[in-house]
Amino acid sequence: MIEIREITKAYDGVRAVDDVSLTVESGEIVTVVGTSGSGKTTLLRMINRLVEPTSGAIMIDGRDNRDLPGHELRRAIGYAIQGYGLFPHRTVAENIATVPKLLGWDRKRIDARVDELLTLFHLEPARFRARMPHELSGGQQQRIGVARALAAEPAVLLMDEPFGALDPIIRGKAQDDLIDIQRKFATTIVLVTHGMEEAIRLGDRIAVMEKGKLLQFATPAEIIARPATEFVAELVGSDDRAFRMLSLSPVSDIMEPGDAPGSPIDATASLKDALSEALWSGRAALPVMRNGAIVGRVTRESIIAQGGRPQ
Ligand SMILES: Nc1ncnc2c1ncn2[C@@H]1O[C@H](COP(=O)(O)OP(=O)(O)OP(=O)(O)O)[C@@H](O)[C@H]1O
Ligand SMILES: [Mg+2]
Repeated sequence: MIEIREITKAYDGVRAVDDVSLTVESGEIVTVVGTSGSGKTTLLRMINRLVEPTSGAIMIDGRDNRDLPGHELRRAIGYAIQGYGLFPHRTVAENIATVPKLLGWDRKRIDARVDELLTLFHLEPARFRARMPHELSGGQQQRIGVARALAAEPAVLLMDEPFGALDPIIRGKAQDDLIDIQRKFATTIVLVTHGMEEAIRLGDRIAVMEKGKLLQFATPAEIIARPATEFVAELVGSDDRAFRMLSLSPVSDIMEPGDAPGSPIDATASLKDALSEALWSGRAALPVMRNGAIVGRVTRESIIAQGGRPQ
């Protein structure tokens, strides 16, 4: 869906992005992670041409992104930015409707889309439609920013630290919402983040950047198990890589026939959550539930075995 070919951006001879190539498949979430100043935002903004590259090319759905005028390209690609970037003098509904309006959607279709998105982000349309951005909490503004980026049902969505300003609980919910939305619309997403935790949680694949260079581009499991450089290893954190590994797999992966005493854990819960529950309740095995019925059990020993270094 997005093919980045040997892209470089230099400012006064200094390379903010240095010869980066990577391909994002259709319907995939790629997270871009790295320290401040590593070139993440610059890379993202070259995709929708808010920044023009010094050299290299970017293909979107098989077409060079220079084939269209920049403003037309940007109508087709959703973009949610660091901070919220809402228009302060427009209502929530007007903010969300920005791109559909430019595209000439009729009133009815726009209103229906605004209400659909507000509902999706757990903001009651009747209460929020007419509010101004300053009448919202930071977390609500951020969700409106993401809703606006999604309004015209873009096939590609670029997100620059969209959840940075949220507290951990609201951030977790916003991440869940994003995953739901991505599944529903099969949107191709490139999401920039500071945090490896978020990169692992959301990314089908993770691009790790440092000083403009792409150090590694691989699945979360691959990055945890085989970090390409010392720097990547440091970002993953050697002290909790076993738990990160466990957080990647659902209980259903290692469920076995049988039952166990005590309250059940859902088959979709992560092995990390299952281990935590087993340790906390002092149980060697937990019953596993799916759609309200006990379908098997998971043992502490089998979970622990999954946290080891992959062979
Ligand atoms: N318009 C510009 N002119 C000159 N230098 C720039 C410009 N934009 C970015 N840079 C430089 O390019 C480098 C990469 O910046 P970029 O914003 O892409 O980093 P980042 O990884 O997004 O950082 P952060 O995590 O802090 O947002 C930085 O050293 C920055 O100072
Ligand atoms: Mg940035």
